[in-house]
Amino acid sequence: MTTITFITGANKSLGYETARRLTEQGQTVILGARDPERGTAAAERLGVRFVRIDVTDDASVAAAAADVEAHEGHVDVLVNNAGISGSHAKAEDLTGDDAMFVFDTNVASIVRVTHAFLPLLRRSQAPAVINVTSGMGSQGRTHDPDRVESTIAAPLYTSSKAAVTMLTMQYAKAITDVRFNAADPGYTATDFNAHGGTQTVTEGTDAVVALATEPASAGTGRFLDRFGPVPW
Ligand SMILES: NC(=O)c1ccc[n+]([C@@H]2O[C@H](COP(=O)([O-])OP(=O)(O)OC[C@H]3O[C@@H](n4cnc5c(N)ncnc54)[C@H](OP(=O)(O)O)[C@@H]3O)[C@@H](O)[C@H]2O)c1
Repeated sequence: MTTITFITGANKSLGYETARRLTEQGQTVILGARDPERGTAAAERLGVRFVRIDVTDDASVAAAAADVEAHEGHVDVLVNNAGISGSHAKAEDLTGDDAMFVFDTNVASIVRVTHAFLPLLRRSQAPAVINVTSGMGSQGRTHDPDRVESTIAAPLYTSSKAAVTMLTMQYAKAITDVRFNAADPGYTATDFNAHGGTQTVTEGTDAVVALATEPASAGTGRFLDRFGPVPW
């Protein structure tokens, strides 16, 4: 039986490359994206099904889950990939609204999508949730002078990704019939960083692809990048 994988923010960049690679490996990928035109075009390129999902909108997320229930009936792997860097304002100019926007898109969205998709995941023999976090949310990485993550100050994005990592670990503790793992893509050239990243999107999706294709016995509550465990 083929693995059915739902990916958010999959119309471009890391989400799209994840969809491309998992399709190539024989999985049935459902390409989630908020914009119907961009999503349809990306799904057509890969020959997969597009489902509209804006991860900041409860109704959109519920409609996406209902659509998948009607078409595929269940989900084996959920990849919470959609994310934003948020405001590039100086730290002293950041506002509460700036914070709410980043935390809603990067953190609350994972709760929203997990809540809606859990019943579909629980129909799988080996359900797994992969949350795309970042080394930018790791204490170890942001305090290591040899790491690029220590050279950047981005209060909202980094703290939102620290929350994503902890959220993943807490879900792993609380929900033991579904695997929850966090993946750090590493610094990857995408629109996210105006293509300043040093890795290709293929390198940037190695950790997610590994987590989406490993055996169920591989475990839950892990934080990995393409080289192995990430200190956090
Ligand atoms: N690139 C890196 O170096 C790097 C490093 C570590 C972690 N990450 C993480 O990896 C993930 C993907 O990053 P990326 O580099 O591929 O970024 P990207 O090029 O900016 O793509 C982000 C994707 O998320 C989607 N998205 C944003 N807000 C959304 C919403 N409300 N609902 C649904 N989709 C939404 C975007 O859709 P639209 O096209 O419609 O805007 C796009 O498909 C993010 O979680 C990011 O934090 C990236």
